[in-house]
Amino acid sequence: MWVSRISSLGARTIKKLARGQLEYTPRIRLLHASSSRIDTFFQSPPQVPRYFCTTPAVDPSQGGKGEVQTINVTFVETDGTEKQIKVPVGTSMLEAAHSNDIELEGACEGSCACSTCHVIVMDVDYYNKLPEPSDEENDMLDLAFGLTETSRLGCQIEAKPELDGIRLALPVATRNFAVDGYKPKPH
Ligand code: FES
Repeated sequence: MWVSRISSLGARTIKKLARGQLEYTPRIRLLHASSSRIDTFFQSPPQVPRYFCTTPAVDPSQGGKGEVQTINVTFVETDGTEKQIKVPVGTSMLEAAHSNDIELEGACEGSCACSTCHVIVMDVDYYNKLPEPSDEENDMLDLAFGLTETSRLGCQIEAKPELDGIRLALPVATRNFAVDGYKPKPH
């Protein structure tokens, strides 16, 4: 309250001085100085421009491009048909197969509790780029039908840039197929 009174009193005094209606006495000088300081103190803070962005955050692991990076993966089906698909980095081969109508079963839905997502890595160089299988994966692979030296579980292979170009063959059967010949559709 007192602040606005002093401030407005100072402003009125300055106007009168400008019109020559007042003498510039020491008291008025003091009032003028107070008014200026108060105005300065209470003036709005400097306007800092604010920016916001609607672009999705850039993932540094994606090379700073701000887009989801994909790799080329070829699935070779049991009849020899090849399907080349683009797989986003971070996606499992089981998810990629299901998204592209490739008949890779995945009965336990990727929890490493079956062997129905068994795939055979066709090139040993790519096989060697994969991380070592866990004990759980090895246990399940032991149950896989038609196990090979480069067999892995599709749900445990994650798309990574170094796997660009990998080729995965589907085994002629899985344990489920071998028992009754039933070919389940992907989930
Ligand atoms: Fe069961 Fe991969 S889906 S182990």
